Amino acid sequence: MRGLMGKTAVVTGSGAGIGQAAAIRLAEEGCRLGIFDWNADSAAATVETIRAAGGEAIAVKLDVREEAQVEAGYKRVLEAFGKVDIVCSNAAIFSGARDRAVDELPKDVWDEMVGVNLTGMYLTCKHGIRAIKATAGKGAVVLTGSPTGMSGCTPANVAYGSSKGGVHALSRVMAVDHAKDGIRVNVVVPGFTLTQIVRELVADPKVYEWQINQIPLRRGAEPHEVAGAIAFMASDDASYMTGSFMFVDGGLTAI
Ligand SMILES: NC(=O)c1ccc[n+]([C@@H]2O[C@H](COP(=O)([O-])OP(=O)(O)OC[C@H]3O[C@@H](n4cnc5c(N)ncnc54)[C@H](O)[C@@H]3O)[C@@H](O)[C@H]2O)c1
Repeated sequence: MRGLMGKTAVVTGSGAGIGQAAAIRLAEEGCRLGIFDWNADSAAATVETIRAAGGEAIAVKLDVREEAQVEAGYKRVLEAFGKVDIVCSNAAIFSGARDRAVDELPKDVWDEMVGVNLTGMYLTCKHGIRAIKATAGKGAVVLTGSPTGMSGCTPANVAYGSSKGGVHALSRVMAVDHAKDGIRVNVVVPGFTLTQIVRELVADPKVYEWQINQIPLRRGAEPHEVAGAIAFMASDDASYMTGSFMFVDGGLTAI
C-alpha cells in the first residue's frame, strides 16, 4: 500500500485480535508501531512478533479510559520514534453475558462498556490528533466500529451497541473538524471476526452455525482480513476517503 513506509502508527488494543493483526500488517507495510494495551504480556508478545520480522515497535501498558495514561503513552511513542502519523483506535470490550436489554441492564455494565469503548476512543483520538498535529502535521485516524452501532443485529447488547453507535458519530464529526488539518478519519466495521475470545464464545458448533447463517459469505472473518482494511484506510491509497465506513462483514449488513 502507498504511503505507509516510514510512518509511525499507534494501535490500541493491539495485544490481541484485530488490533494485533492490524499492528502486524502496518509493521509489514513499513510502519513503526506503538502497541497500546492494558495487558502488558500480550502487548509485549505483539512487539516480539514485529521485531522478530525485522520491524520496530514499543509496548505501552495503559487503560484507554485513563487520560493521563493515554497522554503519557503518546509521549513514550514520540520519545521512541519522534512523530505520530497514524492512530488506530481499536480497543474495546464486549460481554454477551453481562450486557442486556435496556430494562435489565445494570448501570455499572453500561458505564464500563461506554467507558472503554467510547470514552477510550475519544481519549485515544484526542491525544492522537494532538500528537499528529504537533509532529507529522497530517495523518490518518482509523476507528474500529461495529454493525451493532447501526442495527440491532446483536439483540440485548444495549451497552455495546450504544457505545459503537457513539464511535460512529464521533468519527464523522472528527472527520469534518480535521479535514482542514490534513487528517483523515474513517471507520472500519468488522463483522463476525474469529479472534481468540470469539472462537471461545462460538466453540459450540450450534452457536457457530447460528452466527454464520446470518452472513451471506457463510463464515467468520480472520483478523488479518480486517487488518488489511485498517491498513488501507491508514494508507495514501485512501487519500480521498474521510468520514466513511468500510464494512468488512461478509455481507452481514447488506441483508
Ligand atoms: N471480533 C469481532 O467479531 C468484532 C466485531 C465487530 C467489531 N469488533 C471490534 O473490533 C475491535 C477489536 O476487537 P477484538 O475482537 O479484536 O477484541 P479482543 O478482545 O480480541 O482484543 C481487544 C484488545 O483490547 C485490549 N483492551 C481492552 N480494553 C482495554 C482498555 N481499557 N485499555 C487498553 N486495552 C484494552 C485487550 O487487552 C485486547 O488485547 C473492537 O473495537 C471491537 O468492538 C470486533
